[in-house]
Amino acid sequence: MRNGKIKSGVIGWPIDHSLSPRLHGYWLQAHNINGSYQAIAVSPQGLPAMLGSLAEDDFAGLNVTVPHKQAVLEHLDEISDQARRIGAVNTIVVDENNRLIGSNTDGFGFMENLKNGHPGFKAASGPAVVLGAGGAARAIVAALIDEGVPTITLINRTRRRAEKIADDLAGSIRVVDWSARNAALADAALLVNTTTLGMTGKPPLEISLAGLPGEALVNDIVYAPLETALLQAAKARGNATVDGLGMLLHQGRPGFAAWFGVEPVVTEALRRYVLAGMGG
Ligand code: ATR
Repeated sequence: MRNGKIKSGVIGWPIDHSLSPRLHGYWLQAHNINGSYQAIAVSPQGLPAMLGSLAEDDFAGLNVTVPHKQAVLEHLDEISDQARRIGAVNTIVVDENNRLIGSNTDGFGFMENLKNGHPGFKAASGPAVVLGAGGAARAIVAALIDEGVPTITLINRTRRRAEKIADDLAGSIRVVDWSARNAALADAALLVNTTTLGMTGKPPLEISLAGLPGEALVNDIVYAPLETALLQAAKARGNATVDGLGMLLHQGRPGFAAWFGVEPVVTEALRRYVLAGMGG
């Protein structure tokens, strides 16, 4: 812990359902750190004041979630290249000069989840198909490009949003209509769902995996339920799968390490503990 700053947390509006306090609370206890991590409800109007007093309020840093991920950018002293490229910040670190440094660890969490969930996975080994074009998709597409993926097929209901990502992120990105999603799976080595479809309370993700190569890895960033219908269908036909919980767990690591000076690890016990917090 640096400068006696012992507080951290996640800001959002609303914030009630965040699993991050459970995640970071587990690590604080596991490492016997005298620090705190709170879910903090901050309204859009309250955001400038919250960030303005962060250092004097003894915060080592924060996670940032909906709806503040873009809005925080203008209140920070420094923004990592990756966060600027993605256009969103999910982690703030208060440095030794009380400057606020913003970064985005979603892409890191995504890649670490795939590498840990499917040892030997290499994005460079084949084309990827990404469903969705929201904030999560943007971070994931950037991460795949950075890891050397040869091509990405980006498929979104609102085609214009996928085209915007393809324009903003330099890489080999092919945009395909939502209605053509089944046929677009033919050469995929990786299929990722970044839409909210299939999440508890949302409509199902309707897709046929019949054309997906048997060696393709399938990942859903939805983790409630943990085994989505997409992952079930993939498993049933013999595809390897990685669920979405690990992305949440791994994206928290860089922030915790910077705030408290300890590199935390993602273990099976941590997974079970966080799952218990969502009644799973
Ligand atoms: P986030 O920024 O957290 O990723 P988001 O911007 O709301 O969340 O993105 C949700 C994703 O799910 C989008 O890709 C959205 O498609 P649109 O860009 O067309 O809105 C997708 N999505 C949500 N409901 C959908 C539906 N019924 N059919 C197809 N895609 C859907």
